[in-house]
Amino acid sequence: MFLDRIKNFKSYKTETTPCKIKLSSNENPFDLPEWLKEKIVQEVKKIPFQRYPDPTSKKLKKVIADFYGVNPENIVLGNGSDELIQLLTIIIGTTEQPVMYPIPTFPMYQVSADIVGRPKVEFSLDENFQLNKEEIDKALEKKPVLAFFASPNNPTGNTFDKELIKYVADKNVFTVVDEAYIDFSDKDDFVKEALERENLVVLRTMSKIGLAGIRLGVLIANERIAKEIDKARPPFNITYPTQVIGEIVLTEGRDEIKKQINIIKEERKRVIKEVSSIEGVKIYPSDANFFLMKVPDGNLVHKKLIEKGVLIRNMSHLPKMENCLRVSIGKPEENTAFIKALKEVMSEIVFS
Ligand SMILES: Cc1ncc(COP(=O)(O)O)c(C=O)c1O
Repeated sequence: MFLDRIKNFKSYKTETTPCKIKLSSNENPFDLPEWLKEKIVQEVKKIPFQRYPDPTSKKLKKVIADFYGVNPENIVLGNGSDELIQLLTIIIGTTEQPVMYPIPTFPMYQVSADIVGRPKVEFSLDENFQLNKEEIDKALEKKPVLAFFASPNNPTGNTFDKELIKYVADKNVFTVVDEAYIDFSDKDDFVKEALERENLVVLRTMSKIGLAGIRLGVLIANERIAKEIDKARPPFNITYPTQVIGEIVLTEGRDEIKKQINIIKEERKRVIKEVSSIEGVKIYPSDANFFLMKVPDGNLVHKKLIEKGVLIRNMSHLPKMENCLRVSIGKPEENTAFIKALKEVMSEIVFS
């Protein structure tokens, strides 16, 4: 009886099939270098583990603010940006007021709305996975007060039209621009708008640039808005080890992260070029550390790639994603193995 409300609730599913090459979760494929890990070990040893961490993450916030070129007062930290998505879904407007987001997109917006029991206004992207003004207008008629836009979008990889996101914010909707993949994009971000406006915030995460394991998400907002949102944050959501590791990596490891991002961007170019030439595969353009491709039989290609030791993400079961597969960019040797395996699988399918 007490749990009736979530009886039919579907939790967020991750891909956990064990596989030699894992290109399924949009992680940075490179671990931290040994010298940086040594430094981390030394600093983690100094943590008084019996104590609660600093609830304000003062030192870490200063480092992150510097990393993004904003002030510490513009920042709210989360246990991953997942936590910030949940927090916003709980506190913006009332939970009877709808939340809007496009389809297909990152499932946590839907999952968070369902946890809270909030009405959802889902609207379709066009055939190129771009925002469509007519669809947005139809969604706005349902009077949503909160909107989520992942840009670059997951699982499609493309960046949304900035003007259409601003169009939604201009309709007095609290607009969240989730820039989890912006480090791999050369397009404009929304930080300036977030600092200027009181109804638009930006989400960032350390997960895609090498620190998925420490769970550290960042909300960037106008000072007054950040202060209000911060009131609703669990006081010790950023653990002591996360604070210590984040500080070290974002200062001493900054050049290493930048180097890794550049390699991933170069590899994205190479992989997309190679895969584009495979008969039967359609590739969608990407500004992220992954790309989406369409094949004649998504389930079969996904299964055959696993048999060859390569795990990618099957999106075929999602609306508008029939036969679509999402591939994260890995290390150069992993990408080469993926290309080889895909060529073999496709020639078996196309010529069988
Ligand atoms: C668009 C988007 N936002 C947020 C997240 C979650 O990030 P985090 O690991 O910081 O919770 C992801 C993870 O895949 C994502 O794709």
